[in-house]
Amino acid sequence: MSNNVVIICYIIAAVLFILSLGGLSNQATARRGNWYGIIGMLLALVAITMSDKVTGYGTLALAILPAVLIGGFLAARVKMTEMPQLVAILHSFVGAAAVLVGLSLQLDETTIPHEGIAGVIHNIEIYVGVCIGAITFTGSVVAFAKLQGLISGTPLLLPARHFLNLIALAATVWLGMEFISHGIIANPTTALLIAMVITGILGVHLVMAIGGADMPVVVSMLNSYSGWAAAAAGFMLGNNLLIIVGALVGSSGLILSLFMCKGMNRSLVSVILGGFGTGDSGGEPLHTPDGEVTSIESNATTTLLKNAKSVIIVPGYGMAVAQAQHTVAKITKKLRDNGTKVLFAIHPVAGRLPGHMNVLLAEANIPYDIVLELDEINHTFSDTDVVMVIGANDIVNPSALDDPNSPIAGMPVLEVWNAKDVIVMKRSMGTGYAGVGNPLFFNENTSMLFGDAGENVDAILAAL
Ligand code: TAP
Repeated sequence: MSNNVVIICYIIAAVLFILSLGGLSNQATARRGNWYGIIGMLLALVAITMSDKVTGYGTLALAILPAVLIGGFLAARVKMTEMPQLVAILHSFVGAAAVLVGLSLQLDETTIPHEGIAGVIHNIEIYVGVCIGAITFTGSVVAFAKLQGLISGTPLLLPARHFLNLIALAATVWLGMEFISHGIIANPTTALLIAMVITGILGVHLVMAIGGADMPVVVSMLNSYSGWAAAAAGFMLGNNLLIIVGALVGSSGLILSLFMCKGMNRSLVSVILGGFGTGDSGGEPLHTPDGEVTSIESNATTTLLKNAKSVIIVPGYGMAVAQAQHTVAKITKKLRDNGTKVLFAIHPVAGRLPGHMNVLLAEANIPYDIVLELDEINHTFSDTDVVMVIGANDIVNPSALDDPNSPIAGMPVLEVWNAKDVIVMKRSMGTGYAGVGNPLFFNENTSMLFGDAGENVDAILAAL
């Protein structure tokens, strides 16, 4: 394929990626956005494969085929609730790829050395690519291990951790100067390898210091890092499309992180530096929720729903586990046919990945116009007869507002307790992801419908 055709394919692919991001920003156009992304990626792969940069088709096939099979198999098998882990581990691959590209360029003796300023720029590209790649790789592996429950979600708060981070950063900058100017460390590869180890440790330390409740922001930050790592690889390889794609992923990941921070009332810097998710003041929660719990059966819940003029459904992680969304959609239809006003309230960090609940509700064909975000719906609870919380916990925890020592202090929550009656479906009195007790369950107007959310919504649908 001629170079001009490759460039045209790259331009079309870049436009498709931008259209893809635009499409993904809205539920109604998300499917189309996905298709733009898929077609853009296929076009990019075909163009690079047919270009004169690729000659060893046998080697390429050997590398790609097992990757396609393993990736396809894992993605097809992964449960929706395990998606964040998959995303985290995929980010780690991007980081590892940037490190490997950098190291191979550095070690490849057949590469003609760049002279003068071009040489300096080339070295900066290698150095930055390897360092960002190493942080992304180790940080993503730790995030994967935390989300998978392989290591504890409790933040690791080393004494003087900010100082340690600062030293690591200063050492990385100094080694970078050594790498380029061959000062005290005569062999630049040694400087590069030491920097790779230091930034790798920094990645572990940064993510280890982050508390469970802040993991959503970490996943989207690592998404952003992986974009910058890809862009760095693009610079190293002189591939414009990789630079564009990396910059798109890097900046959209950053914007997503800012949105998530806003949703959780955190500042991005404080999340990156860690320590949140332990309680802002580091003390014990002020109140340990206790008191009488009122439980309710599915029949009585059905009666409440039948008599209600307005119902808000709050889905959470438990609805995803129970895969209850399809039955919930049928219940919604029956209630709406009966003249009841039904709305869905979505918290920005409900579930385990950004947009998790929106995806489930869209899958069950719930109309988009009755699915509202936290800001749009929080003032409506006081005019609502029944709120049905399905497998949610942290996102409806009033201690986020009342208890400054709570690990989720300051996070905006859905103020469901303002409704006339609140039904909470969960299996036990157990805590949610952040490990915090929930005073909502002891409120006078709250009734607990214990059991698997899937079985309970089935029973409600049957009774309706
Ligand atoms: P959680 O606070 O994790 O609460 C989910 C509740 O669902 C649990 O208390 C559990 O109680 C219940 N549950 C689990 N399986 C169930 C089943 N089969 N049937 C009925 N109930 C079931 O979830 P949330 O309210 O959605 O809040 C999300 C949390 O995850 C936040 O802390 C957020 O920071 C964190 N997080 C979010 C993300 C993103 S991006 N969304 C990523 C990582 C972490 P029982 O065990 O008693 O049933």
